[in-house]
Amino acid sequence: MTPIPWQHFLPTGDQAVDQEHAALFQRIVQLDQTWPPAGVLLPSALSELAAVAAQAQEHFRREEIAMLQQAYPGYWRHQSAHRHLERKMSRGCPGGEGEPLTPLTPLLLAQWLGAHIQAEDLPMAEYFRHYRTFKAEQEVVLTAPLQVNFSKIQRYISI
Ligand SMILES: [Fe+2]
Ligand SMILES: [Fe+2]
Repeated sequence: MTPIPWQHFLPTGDQAVDQEHAALFQRIVQLDQTWPPAGVLLPSALSELAAVAAQAQEHFRREEIAMLQQAYPGYWRHQSAHRHLERKMSRGCPGGEGEPLTPLTPLLLAQWLGAHIQAEDLPMAEYFRHYRTFKAEQEVVLTAPLQVNFSKIQRYISI
């Protein structure tokens, strides 16, 4: 068993994103605890690995939808980073592209996700914060009662 370094789990400040990251890392830690140190991989370990990859993929899709909804300018770069990670993970899964499974596979998963959070998810969450603040301010401006200075209008009318 390889201890999963929890420093890879970086909070982004976005509650929904962080909850999903925490759940993913928790799943990887569980995978690590049941992952055979060497030799024959049990089918249960392989199916748990596939489940982690599927959970990561679902998380990526939710981030992509949120990015599109909030007009994130880095969408395409971030989306392609997700696809790259999915290909790497599929290599470690049954029926994947054949990247060898090793005792370090769960640790690698944690490192890949940690690096992705740092490079892509942190700036995305930062943008989401600014975007929500901007939308909230815009809402206030657009819904504020129209202030009309009637005395000024009357002055113009009377001219
Ligand atoms: Fe991401
Ligand atoms: Fe993420």
